[in-house]
Amino acid sequence: MTKTKTPTVLLDCDTGIDDALALILLAALHRAGRITLAGVTTTAGNTTAEQAARNTRWILGLAGIGEEVPVVAGEAGPVVVDLVTTPETHGPTGLGYAQAPAAEVGYDWQGLWREVLQDDGDALLVVTGPATNAAVWSRANALPKHITLMGGAYLYPGNTTPTAEWNSWVDPHAAKELFGAVTRPITVCALGVTEQMLLTPKLLEESVAALGDCALAKVLEPMLRFYFEFHQAQGEGYLAQVHDLLAVMIALGIVDVEAHTLRVDVEADSALLRGTTVADFKGHWNQPANARLIIQANVAQAWDVWREALGLLRAFHSAS
Ligand code: BDR
Ligand code: CA
Repeated sequence: MTKTKTPTVLLDCDTGIDDALALILLAALHRAGRITLAGVTTTAGNTTAEQAARNTRWILGLAGIGEEVPVVAGEAGPVVVDLVTTPETHGPTGLGYAQAPAAEVGYDWQGLWREVLQDDGDALLVVTGPATNAAVWSRANALPKHITLMGGAYLYPGNTTPTAEWNSWVDPHAAKELFGAVTRPITVCALGVTEQMLLTPKLLEESVAALGDCALAKVLEPMLRFYFEFHQAQGEGYLAQVHDLLAVMIALGIVDVEAHTLRVDVEADSALLRGTTVADFKGHWNQPANARLIIQANVAQAWDVWREALGLLRAFHSAS
């Protein structure tokens, strides 16, 4: 009988409230031995790369993961344009009304990628922030075989401009460079799918209750209250779209999806269309596919996965 290998995961994020939920999921699965979270690197987007690293370390710590999982700050800003962060979406330091303590962070993100990718050539790289690190990496190194990217809005309204999604808008040149560099289609989780996963106040209440007296339980509410208020101010209702949580589940293959494999590209230089993503559904460009664009995901199943992860964290806490 062949034994299935435990997936190795390298997360590249800009923590960020929904990135934090993705980290909580990964922490639970890592502690349960279902994945190996080999490292986390950060990009600048929702907040600075340094602050994202502090946020990451704090969230992982609250989820019971210490220094055994390295957390390193990545590139300080986009490859061409100036950095813009989004305190109005994710709060002054990225975690809504919650605040990570001050902490030293490391900077050798390429060293960490090298180590992880040399150890396991099948490692899953999941990018839930701007594609800056991945683009820089692609200039001198082979890209990992398995990449999942949260970003873009394909035939779908943007959340930053009428046509652009935030991660693609922050560093459009990086997104374009990454899609130009890949040698096999990467999995793309764009707004058309990720906006389907909506965390409601009721689900938050259930999530907090599911965690029992884990330290994390006290942080979820102030983080998500900020995110609910942001979405309400945007006219979406008092709820939160949790893009990165769904993207990580899709990367791990633990929710059912439908996908189209095709060519995509990103507009980087026009002011009007900065960060606009285009998918060649009809093959007009006659170019090889570079994306496995997710067009449907089973969100009910995703919430079951989330509930199970919180139950695992509670069980680990009770056993400690
Ligand atoms: C993406 O932008 C960020 O604000 C979120 O963390 C997510 O990665 C959604 O557009
Ligand atoms: Ca993010």
